[in-house]
Order: sequence, then structure tokens, then C-alpha cells
Amino acid sequence: MIDLNRALDLDDPDAGDFLAGLQGNIVKGHGRDFTAHVLVRMGEDVPAVRRWLARLAAERVTTAAAARRATRAWHDTGGPGEPFAMVVLSASGYRHLGVPEDRIPVPDEPFAGPRDGEYFRNGMKVPGPRTFNDPPVAEWEEPYRGRIDAMVLLADDDEHRLDATVHDVVTEAAGAVEVVTTERGSVLRKKFPRGTLVIEHFGYQDGVSQPLMIRQDAAEEIRRRGGTHWDPTAPLALALVPEPAGGGHGSFMVFRKLEQDVAAFRRALDDLAVVASRPVAEVGAMAVGRFEDGTPAVPTVTVDPDADPNDFHYDQDPAGSRCPFHAHIRKTNPRGDVPRVIGAPAAFERARRVVRRGITYGERPDLVEGGVADAPATGVGLLFMCFQGNLDQFAIQQEGADSNAFVRPGVGVDAVIGQNTAPAAQTWPASTGTVAFAMANFVRMRGGEYFFAPSMAFLRGLADAPGATA
Ligand code: HEM
Repeated sequence: MIDLNRALDLDDPDAGDFLAGLQGNIVKGHGRDFTAHVLVRMGEDVPAVRRWLARLAAERVTTAAAARRATRAWHDTGGPGEPFAMVVLSASGYRHLGVPEDRIPVPDEPFAGPRDGEYFRNGMKVPGPRTFNDPPVAEWEEPYRGRIDAMVLLADDDEHRLDATVHDVVTEAAGAVEVVTTERGSVLRKKFPRGTLVIEHFGYQDGVSQPLMIRQDAAEEIRRRGGTHWDPTAPLALALVPEPAGGGHGSFMVFRKLEQDVAAFRRALDDLAVVASRPVAEVGAMAVGRFEDGTPAVPTVTVDPDADPNDFHYDQDPAGSRCPFHAHIRKTNPRGDVPRVIGAPAAFERARRVVRRGITYGERPDLVEGGVADAPATGVGLLFMCFQGNLDQFAIQQEGADSNAFVRPGVGVDAVIGQNTAPAAQTWPASTGTVAFAMANFVRMRGGEYFFAPSMAFLRGLADAPGATA
């Protein structure tokens, strides 16, 4: 029996079966460079929808076990590797398939609050128990304003093969579902003196700090990055819950299309650099919590000089003089601020981490060598995705990011992702003393949905008569 309250030990004799029952991309990212996110609305022919999903599961969906095998093969042989696929359902999707209300997935972890199930059951269009400042649904991109029942996530290192897979998946779906929209993501990279790194559109290394739910992965990170101040290990329950219909385990997923105004972000950093009399690189690191090449604003060292630094904790900077409280990575993973400032248990803070699996979207001609275009204000951003065992894990982060009062009143919003119509000016460490300067509203939510990544048993069971999985 696998214990969800611990990280998975790959040497456990049950680990193989456990991973074979799970979809890939949850306990470990799929790692492909190109993605397609096919968002669909289920049709009236429910048996056809069930057959379509069961066929997807049988022919395309990559289990966590298969994903591990594919990664090993990719490391051994290189090349484009194998295509990846997963499918996630919204609550309306579960209902459409005939799953009764009491078998719709619910959060199941020690800190789950009585209303936490509402996020998934009601969907993203309905404000949940925590407050964020998303634009009204009427301002979301048109495809996101209506019902979305499922998303098929396809990924590949070979972009042309991905085009062909999307075409095939959409053809197979005919008569079962209507495609609402298809988003495309692609990994952005930039050369730094310390290597070529994956970045997001504001220009900072991304995908560095992740909770690790496989014991061997966590041990490897600690061996290379160090583990004196920060332990990346996470129990499987951080992202997985039992699937009430059909057995096995699944995970709640947040999907949000976040547009980035790169031009405005860059202008604000230039202005702040003048006001604080500090180099742009330093004020940028205070906004994000890391320099562009991923070096944390709180000094740290790695064991392996080539490793991405992540061994730090804010007990090393309790006043926020290196990494201010409003820095993006301090708002979203406060590494000790929650117990120190608010007095909540450290275990609660760690249980509110999320597993990020987002990917950038949109073209950047200005980043091409010799490119002359201006930095974009629209049309680029992040297809934000994260997995968790309770959507409150994401909600508490988004609420804190949008709030002027987390971790304490007056801190101001997250300087990277904070959305607020009345942002308080944050306090920034300047060359002498501090300065007040407001940085907010560079990221705009364009639409999204809460999903659940069902277990393989649930998906396979859809081939049976309705009721079998319900
Ligand atoms: C366009 C929107 C976003 C951008 C540009 C962005 C950018 C970044 C960057 C540059 C990092 C540092 C690298 C790393 O640790 O991986 C980071 C980390 C992180 N972000 Fe975001 N992010 C965005 C949206 C979000 C959202 C919506 C959330 C959750 C509500 C979030 C949660 C986190 C977390 C938890 C970390 C890791 C913090 C840590 O463990 O130290 N991000 N993000």
C-alpha cells in the first residue's frame, strides 16, 4: 500500500503499479517543449463522449509509469522522444458523464476547510471562498465565457508531430465533443553566462522551485542544490487524492491563461531603478525574488556549481531587506513567513505549496538575435497550470498575491502577478533607506477553469456501461 502522506519511494514494490494507475505530469512534469491545450464541451451523445475518453485513455494518455520510461529513454537516446498526452475534466464534465454529486472528487488533506470543495464543484467562473481580483467573466476571452467540460493536454518536442496529433485528436472527437478553443504553448529559453535557461516572458528563469513527491528526486535535488535551509520534499497528498468514482488517484488542476504586459513591467522596473537608485537587475530581483538567471535575492550557495540555487529560507531575511515580502516567490511560497508573522503552523505553510506545470505562449520576435521589435504589451503570457490535492493551495497563493495585506497589512500586492484596482505602494530597499513605489497589474487573467486529472481506472471504466464508474 502506498502511503500518500510520504514522498513515493521508487524502490517500494508497489510503486510501479501506483504510477501505472496515475496520469503523467502530476508527480513529475512532462518536460516537452511544445504543448496544445484542447478545451472541449461535451455533446449530447453521452455514450459517444464516454467512448471517446476511454479511447483517449487506451491509445494516447501517458501514465506516470510510461512517462518515467519515456524520460529514461530520452536521456539514453536523445532526440524528440515520445508524444505525451493527458486529459482533465471539470466538474461540469463529471456531471455530464453521469457521475453523481457524491462521487465528484473532493479535497482530502489534513488542512482542508469545509468550503474548499466549492472551487471545483462551482468552477472558476464562480467566486470561491477566497478573494482574488480576477476580471469579470464578461472580460475573459470569448471561448472561456461558456462551459468547458474537459481539456486534452498534448505535448511533444517535435512541433510538427504535435500538429498532426492535434489534428488526429480533434478528428477522433467529432460527434462526441465540440472544441471550444485550442491554446498552444512553447518553451522560451535564453542564454545566460551560467547556461541556457527556461524563462518566462518577463525574462526570468522559471520552473526552478518545485515540491518533489518522489523520494529519489528530492534526494537528488538536495545532493546538488543543498538542503540546509530548504527541503523540497513533499508527500504525495500534496497533489493526489483518491478518485471517488472508479478507484485510483487523481489531482486537481488549475488552468489560467495569464497575459503578460512585458513592456509595462520593463518600464516600471526602469522607473523603480531611478527612484531607488539601484541597478535595474537588482530591483528586478526584488520584484521576482530572483535575478534573471535564477540567482535568489536571498544569498545562497549550491553544492554542485551547475545546479539551480534553491536552498534558502526567509528566516535568513526576516525583515525583507534582501527579498521584500511583496516579491513574487516570497508571496507564493513564504518559506517561514507564515509561522513567523501570522503564527500558523509551519506544516500548514508547506501544505499550501502547489506543483507548477505552466508553459509560456506567444511569439517574441524582440528576443530573436538581432530582433528589433519592441517588447510586447499583449499577446504573450503564461498558460499557468498547477496540480494540488486541494484547490485552496492555489487559492491561498492567488489571494495573497492580489492582496495588499499578505503577509501583513500594507505589504502591497505581488509585484509580478498581483492584480488590484487599488494597489498600495510597496516598500523597496533603496541605495539608502527605503522607497515607496507601486508595482501591480502586469498580468491579466484571460480565462481558465478548475479541472481534475482522473485516475486511469476512472478513464478506462468509461468504456463500460454508464453507471459502472459512477
Ligand atoms: C504570468 C504569471 C507568472 C509569472 C511571470 C511567474 C514567474 C515566476 C518566476 C520567474 C518564478 C521563479 C522561478 C521558480 O522558482 O520557478 C516563479 C516561481 C513561483 N511562482 Fe510564479 N509566475 C506566474 C504566475 C504564478 C501564479 C498564478 C502562481 C500561483 C498563484 C505562481 C506561483 C509560483 C510559485 C509557488 C513559485 C515558486 C516559489 C518558490 O518555491 O520559491 N506563479 N514564478
